[in-house]
Amino acid sequence: MSKPDCSACASRRSFLASSGVALAGLAAAPVIASIEGCGDVGSNIPTLSAPITVPLNSISGIGAAGGVGELYATGYNYKIIVRNNGNAQYQAWSSYCDHAGCEVDYVGTGFDCGCHGATWNAQGVLRNGPASSDLLEFKVTVSGDSLTLSNP
Ligand code: FES
Repeated sequence: MSKPDCSACASRRSFLASSGVALAGLAAAPVIASIEGCGDVGSNIPTLSAPITVPLNSISGIGAAGGVGELYATGYNYKIIVRNNGNAQYQAWSSYCDHAGCEVDYVGTGFDCGCHGATWNAQGVLRNGPASSDLLEFKVTVSGDSLTLSNP
């Protein structure tokens, strides 16, 4: 995914602040839609439309404990990052950064967003903005040689 242009975000946020638009309630709904992609809207983090099941051997890099891999699921526009924690325990996060919609990368000690520098710890908890939310962590169920991912 390419780096979104966020040059207009600050001016749109400034407009909202100066115009007295409250970002709550029905009256704000069209406004929220118009700033989608400018971040700071944690409730807009994309979720799965339905659970997905993937064979473990289809996710390169997660064969051993500590391994991290990535996958794309049909109908979900952001890569999903999966980590093997050992003892048949896995975690999976959406790579979606809620600042401006870039995809984050796993970097060993946590997650980084290359677009504007936000960082998260190894559990997907936000450390530094400009993002405003933790990464979306999917529920992971292990069944035989497959993982099923679903919304939390
Ligand atoms: S899109 Fe700006 S920090 Fe991620």
